[in-house]
Amino acid sequence: MSVKSPVSLSVIRRLPRYYRFLGELKKAGCARISSRELSEKMGLTASQIRQDLNCFGGFGQQGYGYNVNSLYDEIANILGLNHQLNAILIGVGNLGKAVAAHINFEERGFRLIGLFDQNPNLIGTVREGITVMDTSYLVDFCEKYHPVVAILCIPKSAAGELCERLVTSGIKSFWNFSHYDLTLRYDDVIVENVHLSDSLMTLGYRVNERFKQNQTQ
Ligand code: NAI
Repeated sequence: MSVKSPVSLSVIRRLPRYYRFLGELKKAGCARISSRELSEKMGLTASQIRQDLNCFGGFGQQGYGYNVNSLYDEIANILGLNHQLNAILIGVGNLGKAVAAHINFEERGFRLIGLFDQNPNLIGTVREGITVMDTSYLVDFCEKYHPVVAILCIPKSAAGELCERLVTSGIKSFWNFSHYDLTLRYDDVIVENVHLSDSLMTLGYRVNERFKQNQTQ
């Protein structure tokens, strides 16, 4: 694999989607696929797919298309799914419990090694085989186990102080559900913000646009 760097974030954001579609094709026993067929399935153009994959060396063959198994493995490799980055999750409330229970971390290249909360009713309980620890133990834990990723499922009001502690303890990557804007404060951290309601509002816009179009027809 030869990476033509730097690869844009929008290309990187499409990779998990390629991986998911190829996984489904693989499961369905499909051995090879053309960029045109893949584009029809994914709602992208064939040229977009070729351009995206060319950032990493191509992988397709003229007249043959893509070998599904090997492209699936290549994308897994590009995404680093075999790296198992150590992650901790902070805030074991409704959202934190759901994330811990329903995300298959190992299949996504991560290993969940710690759960933290400040609520005495949660500390000491066990979730997904991990005992919830008091956040006062965070700094010691980081020193001992060197997690590289923190998953923030805490309220925005708590995130600022906590992030300060985490960054000082060496954590520079965040999967951030907290609605707290980390990038405003730190310029050397990698942040993936997740805002489910953004997706919902985007849906709302599109539905409203369709209504407007139907009314003018
Ligand atoms: P929750 O109240 O059930 O859970 C929050 C947990 O964080 C509690 O267990 C609480 O004890 C813990 N916590 C609070 N401050 C803490 C601190 N300083 N250190 C350690 N633990 C602390 O709330 P829920 O429903 O789980 O939501 C959590 C946050 O995620 C909310 O602020 C909500 O706005 C946000 N959220 C974001 C979504 C998104 O799409 N990004 C979707 C749903 C919720």
